[in-house]
Amino acid sequence: MSTLLPISVLVSGSGTNLQAILDAARVGSLPVRVVSVISDQPDAYGLTRAAKAGVPGLVLEATGGMHRQEYDQALGALLGESDPGLVVLAGFMRILGAGLVRDWEGRMLNVHPSLLPAYRGLHTHRRVLEAGESHHGTSVHFVTEELDGGPLIAQAKLDIGPEDTEQTLNARVQALEHRMYPAVIRWFAQDRLRMTDGRVELDGVRLEEPVTRGEEAWLRSSAE
Ligand code: GAR
Repeated sequence: MSTLLPISVLVSGSGTNLQAILDAARVGSLPVRVVSVISDQPDAYGLTRAAKAGVPGLVLEATGGMHRQEYDQALGALLGESDPGLVVLAGFMRILGAGLVRDWEGRMLNVHPSLLPAYRGLHTHRRVLEAGESHHGTSVHFVTEELDGGPLIAQAKLDIGPEDTEQTLNARVQALEHRMYPAVIRWFAQDRLRMTDGRVELDGVRLEEPVTRGEEAWLRSSAE
């Protein structure tokens, strides 16, 4: 039997990406074991998803007056107790400080709903529509000290149609994330993906640009 990589997933909200990871792990297409789900929001639905899957859910709220450094220390301690081989940010909406990020460098991934480096930050779907863009998408990257700026691993790209709204873009982007994020985590769990000297290597080859696929290709893709 192959070994399962222990991972911790950090969420702030609905947790549909967490669900995609839990589902892929359950059916055996993703060789990971989710050892903890940590949320900064006590009412995040992601915690309910964790409970339903029998995964420990932990809440670490930022109480009034708590400085980022204190929060990060507490989060670092929680992560230390879970002792994952990979930390997966899945809609975790707090900015993490440099110290914590450095501790987990090369072992922390994030998914961001834009074709990075374009549209870092919040409200990406709205901003993309307002700018009249013809394309949009989502990115998975290693987390570094630069917000939404770490080395890119994979992107899913879609064409924006005249009928698209913030809501339809959100749904289309998330459907792609639910394929792409488990695929990238699988590469890491299979020891095919690593970050060396701030650069991404996949199957021993340094990536000059992220693995980029269109909507159809990601939706068609199964376990690789
Ligand atoms: C995802 O679409 C993810 O790209 C985005 O939050 C959503 C979480 O959805 N992340 C960010 O905006 C991070 N900057 P989920 O809770 O249903 O997985």
